Amino acid sequence: MRSNPYFAIAATALVMAGCGRSENQPAAPAVPVPPALTDAQRTAMLAALPAPYAQADLDNGRAAFARCRACHTITAGGPNMTGPNLYGVIGRQAGTHAGFKYSNAVKNAGFVWDDDRIDHWLQNPRTFLPGNKMTYPGLADATDRRDLIAFLSVEAAVRPATPE
Ligand code: HEC
Repeated sequence: MRSNPYFAIAATALVMAGCGRSENQPAAPAVPVPPALTDAQRTAMLAALPAPYAQADLDNGRAAFARCRACHTITAGGPNMTGPNLYGVIGRQAGTHAGFKYSNAVKNAGFVWDDDRIDHWLQNPRTFLPGNKMTYPGLADATDRRDLIAFLSVEAAVRPATPE
């Protein structure tokens, strides 16, 4: 079969459409957006995390989050993409972010995400909640997971929209 450039372009467009927020809901309701964190706030929030997260390397956590960005936003009011927005995910009931169509596995998980559960989820999503639809093979390196969880604990923590 000869290769057809038009087909290739159409196929690429389809794949890209699949990465967007297409099958999920339109824009989430407006959420007040907190001001950006200062470095001093980051340092203080990191130091306040329980062990071993207080010792984490936030820059490495940010780098590790590059593996998640194609599917997840972490800002307040950020869109759902292939995966749900993760603002405030630590401390949030699993499978409850507004406007995202979860699998039954996540919707019925029946727990609140904490450090430990996120750690197991990221290590192997398939075995942690069988039947879920997060097509991510898992993050094998425990230090990367520690740093990524600390990054989420700081950058995706629910904060007031106005400075205190
Ligand atoms: C290929 C897309 C994709 C990638 C990459 C991905 N995720 Fe997901 N994620 C999803 C989908 C889809 C779901 C919803 C799963 C379901 O409903 O079964 C999800 C769900 C989650 C949840 C549960 C959220 C909730 O509201 O209960 C967490 C936490 C999460 N992902 C974290 C991550 C992190 C951290 C990474 C990077 C290491 C990552 N994901 C990488 C697609 C992805």
